[in-house]
Amino acid sequence: MAKKLWGGRFAKKTAELMDEFNASIGFDQKMYRQDILGSTAHAKMLAKQGIISQEDCDQIVSGLAQILEDIEAGKIEFKVEYEDIHMNVESVLTERIGEAGKRLHTARSRNDQVAVDFRMYLKEEILVIEELIADLKKAILEVAEANRETVMPGYTHLQRAQPVTLAYYVMAYYQMFKRDGERFEDCFKRTDYLPLGCGALAGTTYSTDRQFLAEELGFEHLCENAMDAVSDRDFALEFLSDCSILMMHLSRFCEELVVWSSSEFSFVEMDDAYSTGSSIMPQKKNPDVAELIRGKTGRTYGNMMTLFTIMKSLTLAYNKDMQEDKPPVFDSAETVRISLQIFTDMLRTLTFRKENMEAAARKGFTNATDAADYLVSKGLPFRECHEIIGNIVLHCLKRGIGIEELSLAELKEFSDKFEEDVYEKIDVRSCIAAKKSYGSTSFESVENMIRLAKEEMEE
Ligand code: ARG
Repeated sequence: MAKKLWGGRFAKKTAELMDEFNASIGFDQKMYRQDILGSTAHAKMLAKQGIISQEDCDQIVSGLAQILEDIEAGKIEFKVEYEDIHMNVESVLTERIGEAGKRLHTARSRNDQVAVDFRMYLKEEILVIEELIADLKKAILEVAEANRETVMPGYTHLQRAQPVTLAYYVMAYYQMFKRDGERFEDCFKRTDYLPLGCGALAGTTYSTDRQFLAEELGFEHLCENAMDAVSDRDFALEFLSDCSILMMHLSRFCEELVVWSSSEFSFVEMDDAYSTGSSIMPQKKNPDVAELIRGKTGRTYGNMMTLFTIMKSLTLAYNKDMQEDKPPVFDSAETVRISLQIFTDMLRTLTFRKENMEAAARKGFTNATDAADYLVSKGLPFRECHEIIGNIVLHCLKRGIGIEELSLAELKEFSDKFEEDVYEKIDVRSCIAAKKSYGSTSFESVENMIRLAKEEMEE
């Protein structure tokens, strides 16, 4: 049986089940690199401040470097009796270098150690996620540029509403992912505070140099209050919230693609590489990627609720409950990474059935608002125009035709303001082109959106 690093005060060994229950090594081994980096910086700081000798420091630093290499080569077997990644690394170090290894934990607690490991891990994850978001935005921009002229129905209540372009539609998602990128950037700022050197909760009696640690480990700021430093998990909550919002955006996009790929819509076809078949129905081609992302969104919400619930009643400072913070964060980080990656690949290989989109836009009276606006331009009050066009729609529904299929004589029965120019004005392309407000679906306005997005991407 391995000896516990905190065993001095105990007369009896822990129960085997207790070891298993108490251990976090099963999941926190993911942070082995951060733990070793943190310890290396800590040893250097201790030597620089004369708290340990340079000789001990050198042994610790090279011992840790060797452990890192051995972990990556699969040569180290983590032990449940050593509880977590921190004590696993320290125990192996001491087994290997003896005395010097026992000096590493001077002026440090696992409470500030785990906090610094976790923040380092998250900072790296945030940067990867930011890259993936940037690539997704690029893919969306590619779709937009290729579909400036692709006309489709815009919906409200999933009922055809007004004609828009596909470029406009996808650029709406561009805005959402842009905000997501900004949110992660913001989360990074608050994660970038160094807790190391805060000790268990009250600081330490050694004249440590936390500024040096921050520089070694690439932290912008120091946590100001040691008690806050070891009990704060806001950065993780923020990360999980940002993941949830991002996944919600992906999920909405996925829902569109599931609906659009149905034969009833037939707006898109997914590439075979990102679809699956049925074990019984030979004709099936299912949009599994989109459905899975939609499903995994629920997981990320669950992870967020898990940590919010863990934290809600904890007194200051560290409580063991907080060990449960890692699985949900690791899970959301992985879920977000793979979802972003595969969604972007799927989007890049999607085939848009442009003819079907435009045909759908030409049905369902998507030009009714523009027909009303036409009458407004002839001097009638909008409410009156709304009523007239409503009557025309009712009439057309009975005959199964569109407004543009009525003759001028028939239109004039509803209002004598109609002239020959109405047909040009209510064509779906004219409806799109006629939009004037900033941020509209007009071809010109979307061109501007694309230009701004490109400028922003180049930055
Ligand atoms: N494995 C622990 C965690 O992840 C490390 C901190 C333990 N601190 C303590 N006071 N027992 O939270």
